[in-house]
Amino acid sequence: MSKRKRYLIAGNWKMNISSSDARELVVDIAGKVGKVPKVDVLICPPFTSIPEVKNSLSSLAGAESIFLGAQNFYPEKNGAYTGEISAIMLRELGVSHVIIGHSERRTLFGEDDGLLNKKVLYALGTNLIPILCVGETFEQRKNGREVQVIAGQLKSGLRGIFQTEAKKLVIAYEPVWAIGTGETAVPEVVQKMHLSIRELLRELFGPKTAASIKILYGGSMKADNCKSLLQENDIDGGLIGGASLQATSFADIIKIANELSE
Ligand code: 13P
Repeated sequence: MSKRKRYLIAGNWKMNISSSDARELVVDIAGKVGKVPKVDVLICPPFTSIPEVKNSLSSLAGAESIFLGAQNFYPEKNGAYTGEISAIMLRELGVSHVIIGHSERRTLFGEDDGLLNKKVLYALGTNLIPILCVGETFEQRKNGREVQVIAGQLKSGLRGIFQTEAKKLVIAYEPVWAIGTGETAVPEVVQKMHLSIRELLRELFGPKTAASIKILYGGSMKADNCKSLLQENDIDGGLIGGASLQATSFADIIKIANELSE
């Protein structure tokens, strides 16, 4: 089966793997993965482990298609923002992607649509690829509001983006009820949501750009359920939490994506 675009398999380490453990995990992942010429891999460590991951990747042969991402940043150039990290600081460390609006940031840290929109625009302006996360709660789905919720998050998050910039975007659909719960959404349900996201992107940016934007799924994706998800037409990869913390499970997902591309 041949997909219309390269899969992106991204690992979100969240607040796990300190810099002393990062090298071992990265080397282990790269060793287990081997050559996967048809898949882009992204690792998003905590800030303090970024340099170690960067150094490990530079010393590994064949790690060219493993990219480095961050889990957050603050959308200002510099200044009195105690505790924050700027996009330029991340770029300096070789970071290419940044996760924006993860449900944990929205709920635990009160990040609202206005701030997330500012982050998306700022990331694009500084050559960081934004991975904008959207997702509904169990309650919202139970009330049949999931499509409306996701559309609302997307419209606010993507406000003011020009069509020429939009093709650099990555969207991650992460239903809140599936994150870290072992409860994976069934492939047909995810595909349906991804299609409605694609349709909204089409309205916003036109068909060509919409077709080129990667839409990832996140929420308890594992080696044993990723194949049926990745086979769906509008699922262009995964944003993986728990299973990205173990080299074997993360490498298995990457290898499955590579096989599906052949
Ligand atoms: P899990 O894969 O642990 O469910 O986490 C998903 C996620 O939140 C990735 O950003």
